[in-house]
Amino acid sequence: MAVVFYHGGTSWAEEGVMPDFSDNSNPIGPPEGLIYYVREAVERGVYLRFPANLAEEVLREYEGVEVTVFNGATEALLAAIAALKPRRIVIPWPNYADYVRVAQLLGVGYVLVEDPLQAASGDLVVMSNPNNPLGRYVRRDEVLDLARRLKARGAALLVDESFIDFTRGESAAPDVPVVKSYGKLLAAPGLRVGAYLGDPPPGLKAPWRLNSIADYAIYHLGASGIKKHRERTLAYIAEELPRVWQKVAKCASPLPTDVHFFVVKGREPKGVKVRPLWTHGLADAYRVSIKTPELNDVLIKAICSA
Ligand SMILES: Cc1ncc(COP(=O)(O)O)c(C=O)c1O
Repeated sequence: MAVVFYHGGTSWAEEGVMPDFSDNSNPIGPPEGLIYYVREAVERGVYLRFPANLAEEVLREYEGVEVTVFNGATEALLAAIAALKPRRIVIPWPNYADYVRVAQLLGVGYVLVEDPLQAASGDLVVMSNPNNPLGRYVRRDEVLDLARRLKARGAALLVDESFIDFTRGESAAPDVPVVKSYGKLLAAPGLRVGAYLGDPPPGLKAPWRLNSIADYAIYHLGASGIKKHRERTLAYIAEELPRVWQKVAKCASPLPTDVHFFVVKGREPKGVKVRPLWTHGLADAYRVSIKTPELNDVLIKAICSA
C-alpha cells in the first residue's frame, strides 16, 4: 500500500479556515501559564541565549521515569531509531504515517503489517498507543507482553505515547522504550516539545535538543502545571466526548475510542475540516477530534447533513 503523507491541523500562515476537526491536539487548548511564560520568555530575550536544559527535570518529575527531551516527538523518533539501529521497521497498520517518513529519512526499510508478531529477528516494531488514527489504548501489561514476545523472536518494540495523557492509561516506560509528544496535551505543536522515556540507548543524545523558549516555558509551568492541565483535560473529555459521539452515532457510524478523537465511517461532511483516511487505505472513513461544545455542535450538524 502506498502511504500518502497528510497532516491534520493548520499552520500559522493560514487564516480564517473552516472549523478544523482534523487537528487532534487538546480540545481545551494550552494551559494558561504556558502562554504567559512564552510571552515572558520573548520579553526577556531568552531566544538570544542557549537553552538551560531545565525542561528535562520538569518532564522527569511529571513522568516519574528518565526523560530525554527533544524538539518534538518526530526528532525523538529519528534519534531513537538511529540509536537502536534496526534491520527493518515494522508498522502495525493503520498507524501514524510519519513512521514511514522517518524510516525513509533514515534509509531503513519498513513494512506495514496487520499483526506486529509478523516481525522477525532484527526488526523494530513502531506503534502509537493510543493509536492514531483509531484512538484505542492498549493496556501496559499487554504492551509488555507484546515486547516479551517480540524479544523472543529477536525483535524489539518502540511505543509512541503521544496521546496517553488523554486517557488514564499507564505508560509502558521504562520497561519498553517510549517516545512522546507534549505538543498534543499542551495544544502547542509549534513549541516542538517531545521526549524519549526510559534509559537512553547509547548515541541517543545529540546536543541542543530543545529551543530556549520551550525550555523556559516548560520549566516555569512545572510538573504540577502539566498535571493540573491533564486533569482538566480528562474531566472535559469525560463530559463532552460521549455527548458528541452519541449524537454522531444517530446519523453515522463512529468507531469506539479511548481518547478525544474518533474515526467515523461514511461520507465526509461538508463545510468543516476533517482528517480523511484514504491516505491510510481506509476509503469512506475520516477522523474527527472534539473541540468546544459550540464547535462540536457545528460538527454534529455537518455530519448529520452529509
Ligand atoms: C502519534 C503521533 N506521534 C508523533 C507526532 C508528532 O509529534 P511532534 O509534533 O511532537 O513531532 C504526532 C503528530 O501528529 C502523532 O500523531
